[in-house]
Amino acid sequence: MRTLVTYYSETGNTRKIAEAIHGEITGEKVILPFGELSTLDGYDLIFFGFPIMQFGAPRKVRMFLKAHAAGKNMALFVTHASWEEPGQEDFLAGWLGKCKAAAAEANLVGFFHCRGELSADAAERFLASEFEEVRQFGGMQPATVGHPSEEELETAREFARRMQ
Ligand SMILES: Cc1cc2nc3c(=O)[nH]c(=O)nc-3n(C[C@H](O)[C@H](O)[C@H](O)COP(=O)(O)O)c2cc1C
Repeated sequence: MRTLVTYYSETGNTRKIAEAIHGEITGEKVILPFGELSTLDGYDLIFFGFPIMQFGAPRKVRMFLKAHAAGKNMALFVTHASWEEPGQEDFLAGWLGKCKAAAAEANLVGFFHCRGELSADAAERFLASEFEEVRQFGGMQPATVGHPSEEELETAREFARRMQ
C-alpha cells in the first residue's frame, strides 16, 4: 500500500492536519507540499488537503485536480475559518460542496474538514473591506485562534486510520 499525503497550506493549519494524517498511516508513505507535487500517479491512496479560500478550493488546487485527479482514490481534507452559529451552517455546507466538486473526477473515498485559525494579517485585510460580509468574517478571527485544536487533530488521525 503506497500512500501520498499532500497539502496546500499558506499559514500552516492544513499542514498540521497533513502531518497528523501522515504520522498515523502505515505502510509506504510520502508527504509532499502542493508546491512540490507534479503527479498523482503511482499511489493506492491520496490524502489531499487545502484551505477554503474565497468560498471554495484555491484556484491552483482546482486546476491541478482537474488535470490529475481522474480515477484516483482520494481522501480530501479541508480547513476553513467558518463558525458554527445557527444559520451559518448552510454557507459552510455550500463551500465544502464546492471543495468536493473540485475533485469530482476522483474516486472520493472520504472527506474531513475542521476549523483553522484565520491569520491576523488576513483578518486585518478583511476588516478593511468595503463589503459588510467580508468585515464580519474578519471580525470572527478571535474565535478561530487555536484551531485546529488537539481534539481536531485527533479526529484527523482517526479519519486517517479509517481511510486506510
Ligand atoms: C484570502 C483568504 C480567503 C479565505 N476564505 C475563506 C472562506 O471563504 N471561508 C472560510 O471558511 N475560510 C476562509 N479563509 C480562512 C482559511 O480557510 C483558514 O484560515 C485556513 O485554515 C487556512 O489554512 P492554511 O493555514 O493551511 O493556509 C480564508 C483565508 C484567506 C487568507
